[in-house]
Amino acid sequence: MPSKFYITTAIDYPNGTPHMGHAYEKIVTDAYARWHRFLGDDTYFLTGTDENGQKLQESAKAAGKETQAFVDENVEVFKNLCKDLNISNDDFIRTTEERHSKVATSFWKKLEEKGDLYFGKYSGHYCISCENFYTELQAPDLICPHHNKPLELKEEDGYFFKITNYKDWILNYIKTNEKFIVPKRALNEIVSRLEKEDLRDIAFSRPNNGWGIPVPGNTDFVMYTWCDALVNYYSALEAESKLDYWPASVHVIGKDITWFHTIIWPCMLHALDIAIPKQIYVHGMVLGSDGRKMSKSLDNGVDPYDMIKKYPLDTFRYYILRGIPAQSDGAFSEEELVAKHNNELGNDFGNLIMRVVKLSLKNLPEKVSGEGVEQNVHYEEVFEKMKVHMNNREHNKALDVCWEAVNQANQLVNDTEPWKLKNDPEKLTPVVYNCLYAIHALSLLLSPFLPASATNTFECLGVEGGGFETLEFGKTVYDLKTPEALFPKMEL
Ligand code: ME8
Repeated sequence: MPSKFYITTAIDYPNGTPHMGHAYEKIVTDAYARWHRFLGDDTYFLTGTDENGQKLQESAKAAGKETQAFVDENVEVFKNLCKDLNISNDDFIRTTEERHSKVATSFWKKLEEKGDLYFGKYSGHYCISCENFYTELQAPDLICPHHNKPLELKEEDGYFFKITNYKDWILNYIKTNEKFIVPKRALNEIVSRLEKEDLRDIAFSRPNNGWGIPVPGNTDFVMYTWCDALVNYYSALEAESKLDYWPASVHVIGKDITWFHTIIWPCMLHALDIAIPKQIYVHGMVLGSDGRKMSKSLDNGVDPYDMIKKYPLDTFRYYILRGIPAQSDGAFSEEELVAKHNNELGNDFGNLIMRVVKLSLKNLPEKVSGEGVEQNVHYEEVFEKMKVHMNNREHNKALDVCWEAVNQANQLVNDTEPWKLKNDPEKLTPVVYNCLYAIHALSLLLSPFLPASATNTFECLGVEGGGFETLEFGKTVYDLKTPEALFPKMEL
């Protein structure tokens, strides 16, 4: 039986149009989902939108729209982004859907039955953009560390989650399960925060202003948006009778929301005796080209739509996946994107296909058989190395390994000089067959990262895509078609 692999992105706030961070996270998660399908795992990939926050209500008001209409409009844009980026999600959950609120409500009731929710008074410093309270240790000057805006003092009655009951358990769990939080730096940061800070119970409700999921039994309150939002990973499965995918194999998130995913979510689940996710992969942030956080005031933001209008989608995907380190922040540089398009995708990969297939079509029949051909190229080791890097959530390194192999394939063509064998089909066929096999193997290995380009290459070779096991030296007959230029030269 294939192993199950359940992967999720964070669910986005649809209080505006999607930004580079949203595009980045979806592309990265998509590469892992496709990689696991490539490995033969029974994979399920979820993304969606986080719609119950107070922030949405305020943004709608500022736009002069009804909250529901405003949110519906924006969510369409987020859904389209998935299509436009060729994201292979199996489901898209909206937290305003009934299938979600039902499960969130039942989580609340069970926590209450368990005695882990109580009513009390809260006083704290709040950032509405994060929908989060900050302690004085985290924000000594009472300025939000993420949004650089003054925090608002809130004093409210409401419900609390007794997370303090679970502090020792979660700290011990994190320390003894090294792969639970990846990378190590994120793990160390969380452990140090847990050890230093005096953990307080969490306010789990907000006054009901007509937006959000009502607290069962007390409609003066709605659930705190993070309390319901985190449940999406579970509700999306429960609602579709797919709980056999639980626990999640990996939640992919940005570093600004590590605390919620590594502390609050596991404690909620543990309180209800539900298995916790196997891993939280904390990716870095995409920064402006000046190396600073992308922001309107710094005017250093890059709109993902501008990029995919100007350049082929796979160029954008490739740059995101290889040009930005998987585990730390990275500046977005359009110049580098264009350089990667021209040099790596165009000269290295595109040209390899062009020169081999064209030469073959010109000098050999369209069908190139490998019968009796001696195998001079092998990709098992490349595949194994890529597996290790993908397992470590270092997709950029997996692509580095694959690119070394692309360069070696070019070297093979240079060394075997097939153009010198033009008039000798008997000698030419085995040389060309090895080169075609190399292109086939590389396209398979690249298919989780560059799905559309890989499909084009498969068509050109006359083969089907699939897993690594579909690669069969000698057995596959390549039935060639004239290739189209995959990555024609581009200027900035
Ligand atoms: O945080 N680079 O939603 P969100 C990379 N609704 N990733 C970035 C980024 C950047 N510059 N900016 C943001 C939320 N992100 C909550 C999540 S999950 C139950 C609820 C990432 O729309 C961010 O870290 O603010 C998060 O993982 C995702 O985009 C959505 O951010």
